[in-house]
Amino acid sequence: MMKKIIIPGVIFLLAGLISAVSAQTYPFELPKLAYGYNSLEPVIDARTMEIHYSKHHAAYLKNLNNALKGTKYEGYSLNELMLHAGELGDAVRNNGGGHYNHALFWNILSIDKPFNPQSEVGKAVIETFGSIDSLKKILSNAGATRFGSGWAWLYVTPGKKLAVSSTPNQDNPIMDVSKERGIPILGIDVWEHAYYLKYQNRRGDYLSAFLDIINWEVVNKNYVDALNSPLLIKVSHSSHRE
Ligand SMILES: [Fe+2]
Repeated sequence: MMKKIIIPGVIFLLAGLISAVSAQTYPFELPKLAYGYNSLEPVIDARTMEIHYSKHHAAYLKNLNNALKGTKYEGYSLNELMLHAGELGDAVRNNGGGHYNHALFWNILSIDKPFNPQSEVGKAVIETFGSIDSLKKILSNAGATRFGSGWAWLYVTPGKKLAVSSTPNQDNPIMDVSKERGIPILGIDVWEHAYYLKYQNRRGDYLSAFLDIINWEVVNKNYVDALNSPLLIKVSHSSHRE
């Protein structure tokens, strides 16, 4: 059910989750944010949110649609584009990844949906990493050590295990170009555009603060959806390409 939230000057609609975005085809549309630009302060400031969403994500989207227009790939879902990213050229790989990754990113953020060790993903995190603090350290390290621009991921492997990785640019674990494959359930944008206004060069401070605004209800839903997704089989049968 869609519900309008009205804040000064802006109307946001509660959005569907990443699974709905992933099934869409050309022409792709900017997913609506489920909260206002200032909702994640002080961790992410409103100006960064506005530029990130309305300029950066919007640009990936526009460039993706331009790259697909008039091609046979207009009928591909976003998931299918990711699975074949290595074959479709840099414009689709970079902008398709940019669209997928940011759609996931907006959905997994909230200031009041803390980690729940009794949830399905909570149990899996503790079984896999020992504790939420241990996972945070591993994710932080993955983001901090990604040279240049990219993403850190918590994802579900084809063997239905949780794992952490990082990818360059706008790649993600679904892509055939990724060495570590799976379905991402939590993504951390470590491009400077995600944090530079507030944190400047202090990526570590951004990562530390960021991990306190994860919407673990959504990550739990992403986890359960991933375990039951036919995409896991496709990822495991699709070979890695350089
Ligand atoms: Fe970004």
